[in-house]
Amino acid sequence: MVKLPPNFITTINQASLFSTHKPSYTMFIHHRKKAIVLIAVTGFVAVTILAFSPIQMQPEKFKNLKVLPADISFKQMDDTMDQFEVDLGIQCNYCHAHSRENNRKMDMASDDNKKKDIARDMMRMTNEMNRKYMANIPHADTVKVQLITCNTCHRGAAKPTDKSIGTGLNPHK
Ligand code: HEC
Ligand code: HEC
Repeated sequence: MVKLPPNFITTINQASLFSTHKPSYTMFIHHRKKAIVLIAVTGFVAVTILAFSPIQMQPEKFKNLKVLPADISFKQMDDTMDQFEVDLGIQCNYCHAHSRENNRKMDMASDDNKKKDIARDMMRMTNEMNRKYMANIPHADTVKVQLITCNTCHRGAAKPTDKSIGTGLNPHK
């Protein structure tokens, strides 16, 4: 855990995990020059840990990370993946492929499932929106930066253009 100076405000948000920078936290400067540190810790929702089999979650080290920080902890990985499931209303196998050797097992490091690379692009996009835009918006009536997460768009659906928000936006549809 990162030790925080007392005048720092912490916002728990998985989006900071998507940072391509090395440290496990991202620093955004508030317009009043208050620094807000977003620590990469737990997600919002306490999803059942049973969704993770210990075998799947205990490789020596994660083997194939292109977006998440290389030193991400098991707990952080666990929380991030659980959050994806909730935000998109899907299971692990929506993005992950089965092992080529044993079709009854999942291979989390494999890139055989194309949805995984889409998810990576989504993580990069979400991260960039937060870094480039959200961090620079003066938050006039709050000291807390509201970050964009997968759920900002997805709202529990794999494709946000589905029923999640679709018709509500356009009364003529
Ligand atoms: C929305 C798609 C998505 C869902 C759903 C998802 N994952 Fe992932 N997962 C990814 C992506 C993308 C990566 C690679 C991240 C990167 O490249 O930094 C990843 C990486 C991993 C890794 C690291 C593998 C390695 O060694 O490189 C593990 C372990 C993992 N996921 C487990 C799970 C489990 C268990 C579930 C279900 C509870 C799950 N994931 C659900 C997208 C997903
Ligand atoms: C700014 C809005 C937005 C954000 C934020 C967002 N997505 Fe998406 N996502 C979309 C849209 C739009 C699509 C395209 C749906 C389609 O194919 O019509 C999509 C598609 C996807 C798909 C492919 C679904 C499919 O079956 O084809 C995955 C996987 C996905 N997003 C994962 C994520 C993850 C993980 C995050 C958070 C890291 C995220 N998205 C954040 C808007 C967003």
